[in-house]
Amino acid sequence: MKLKLVNKSNPEDMLSKSVREIPPSGIREFFDIVYSTPDCISLGVGEPDFITPWRISDSGIYAIKDGCTHYTPNRGLPELREVIARYTEDKYGISYDPDSELIITMGVSQGLDLALRSIVDPGDEIIIIEPCYVSYVANVQLLGGVAVKISVSSDNGFKINVDDIKKSISPRTKGIILNYPANPTGATIDEETLRLIAGLAEENNLIVISDELYSAIIYEKRHFSIVRIPGMKERTIYLNGFSKSHAMTGWRLGYVAGPETIVSMMLKIHQYTALCAPSISQHAAVEAIRKGEKDVRLMIDEYYRRRNFIANSFNEMGLACPMPEGAFYVFPDISATGLDSRSFALDLLKKEKVAVVPGIVFGAPGENHIRCSYATSMENLKEAMKRIGSFVRSLKA
Ligand SMILES: Cc1ncc(COP(=O)(O)O)c(C=O)c1O
Repeated sequence: MKLKLVNKSNPEDMLSKSVREIPPSGIREFFDIVYSTPDCISLGVGEPDFITPWRISDSGIYAIKDGCTHYTPNRGLPELREVIARYTEDKYGISYDPDSELIITMGVSQGLDLALRSIVDPGDEIIIIEPCYVSYVANVQLLGGVAVKISVSSDNGFKINVDDIKKSISPRTKGIILNYPANPTGATIDEETLRLIAGLAEENNLIVISDELYSAIIYEKRHFSIVRIPGMKERTIYLNGFSKSHAMTGWRLGYVAGPETIVSMMLKIHQYTALCAPSISQHAAVEAIRKGEKDVRLMIDEYYRRRNFIANSFNEMGLACPMPEGAFYVFPDISATGLDSRSFALDLLKKEKVAVVPGIVFGAPGENHIRCSYATSMENLKEAMKRIGSFVRSLKA
């Protein structure tokens, strides 16, 4: 008997339908153009301009020299899990058992993937608040899930209207993804709103995936995690990591925590798909937690200075820019220029050689905005704002 195989002359036939249907990241597409523009100042990248603090890198180097180059336990190094559990308790008042409620991951990216894979079946709905980090919608869709989108707007400082969440809940809703402080808006979610969301989650039996990757980079306020609300630890998957706080994007390290039942499901997926997070990075991260707080503080002080400068500069040139509460992005409204976000970004790049990210890549409600990262030197920021100012003036002339 002959088996009927897919038509190999058409490689498209061999590809998974869910992968084919997902568009490539708008950020990557835009940056292909940026990289081919010499002498451009980039406010586009979503990572710290600082290199990893030396004491942390040094620990990584020692780990290699000491031969710590093997697999670690699937959950991650016990020593790292212990210091993370202590850190989250001391800093954010949330406590996890390092042996049963925590897994070290390859960044929040992998934590998010594990979280969604552990709860989403095809057709399940996940509520997502746009504009948002580009991976959320795609990760839900890759699993055959449905991303149900609600929006926030700069008119009220990107605050969530909890009624919008309530209206979007259906019998197929499995959970909601929250990100605070947020990429791309820099807004955080206040305790009162988190309590209302927690109430909805309990009433409707929802899982909250709480992406708190930027929790250490917060300015006037103190970070408050939804996990602290009674009853929420039992239904929250908590994501955090080292990429932004400790300038460790390239080390690919994060962690996911939650109730033991969900964590044990995530561990199964992690065992089969990754085995463990990079061992060298895990050794460096122990040092990051033990001794990195002063370095983190210095970086935040610098981001704070830059945030004030860039947000004020946009407002002065007539582009309304809410003051971000955390992370290292501003998300000004460019509608006064009459350009859509993609045209604004492309023209600015062509005419003034400054790269910003069109707001539309973060979802439809991001249109009429651009995302500018201030994770670049003050010198670059000053020059970039001079160029953006002259671009905006040229449009008004
Ligand atoms: C909100 C948010 N979550 C997750 C990630 C992924 O981070 P990681 O480097 O920890 O995978 C990013 C990266 O930009 C982000 O902005």
